[in-house]
Amino acid sequence: MSPYWRTGIVQDVAPPGITDLAPGYLDPALLPVDLLAAAYDKAFSRYGPAALSYGENQGVQPLREALAERAGCGPEHILITAGTSHALHMLATTLAEPGDVVLCEPTAYDYGKQIFTDRGLRLAPFAADDAGPEPDALAAAVRRHRAVGRRIAFAYLIPTFHNPTGRLVGEERRLALLDVAREHDVLVVEDDAYAELCLDELPMPKPMAELAGYEGVVRLCSFAKTLGPGLRLGWMLAAPAMVASAAASGLLSSGGGLNHLASLAVTTLIEDGGYDTRLTMLRKELGARRDALVKGLGTACFARPPHGGFFLWVRGASEEHMLAAAARAKIRVAAGSRFGRPATPAVRLSYSFNPPDTLFQAGRRLTQHQKG
Ligand SMILES: Cc1ncc(COP(=O)(O)O)c(C=O)c1O
Repeated sequence: MSPYWRTGIVQDVAPPGITDLAPGYLDPALLPVDLLAAAYDKAFSRYGPAALSYGENQGVQPLREALAERAGCGPEHILITAGTSHALHMLATTLAEPGDVVLCEPTAYDYGKQIFTDRGLRLAPFAADDAGPEPDALAAAVRRHRAVGRRIAFAYLIPTFHNPTGRLVGEERRLALLDVAREHDVLVVEDDAYAELCLDELPMPKPMAELAGYEGVVRLCSFAKTLGPGLRLGWMLAAPAMVASAAASGLLSSGGGLNHLASLAVTTLIEDGGYDTRLTMLRKELGARRDALVKGLGTACFARPPHGGFFLWVRGASEEHMLAAAARAKIRVAAGSRFGRPATPAVRLSYSFNPPDTLFQAGRRLTQHQKG
């Protein structure tokens, strides 16, 4: 481990002697330092001083074109962001006023929700089952809030490899949710941070934004989970008018496109195939890590292994007991209640941050201490 992987440099470090299954980010060993160093070199030699100027407001054209081609849409649908957190903040400040309602699942990405509450938005959870957010519950929540005069800013959904549960919403449920959103004129914000991390051979449902023809849905993607969060780089796919309006904002007019140099480096990676090679490697690595953790947990595992993303959602009789067992096993996990109100007590175990061996052993220790 690098001596610089420490407090004061990186955001959060577990105390020594603790196996950390809490992080929602990649193992340092999986961060592509050499690949990106070469990509930055390439960007400098190709773009010269243009790499160090203010960038095009909407984000550099070659990256927008490359991402559009991958998504099967035009570049007018794409705005480069400083990652999904930035995009959520931007949407919360430009599309909503304090007091407006954000409809969300009872259990959802905690920091995403914090971005909304920081802005004074009101979180309004509606029911979800194992297949995803429930369309009827969404409709009922819209009616309920509007009946008392509240404005709905948007519905915040994580349909693909959900944080924290790992669940993947199928296409039928996505279409049913879109029908309700369209009927009630509610914008959907589709947080798709884990979209490129399917770990099994299976047909992926189309993104909700694509199913909706980029009308009424804003899709947020990020390089944080595939390359590294330190890049602070992501992209938003939306209707051209929304992209143009964001591009004309003071923030982007004053400062230019976000993370211009990182954008150019990543452009070279996509163009020369390095990004796809990396995705193939990463999916294999994460798949092996997920399988090792599931094997270590064995029959005591309450989880249905997810098909992608970073997380295993382990249900039990009591969160308190699960946390106490993890503490006895010297393992840091994320309490399910951090993410809202799970129907069944649960903890989130991340398999992105440790190698397979450590995960297998951690799974065994958790199981033993659960019994003990
Ligand atoms: C669902 C979800 N959205 C957004 C983020 C943050 O993305 P970014 O690093 O691009 O801001 C995370 C990271 O944990 C996440 O799990």
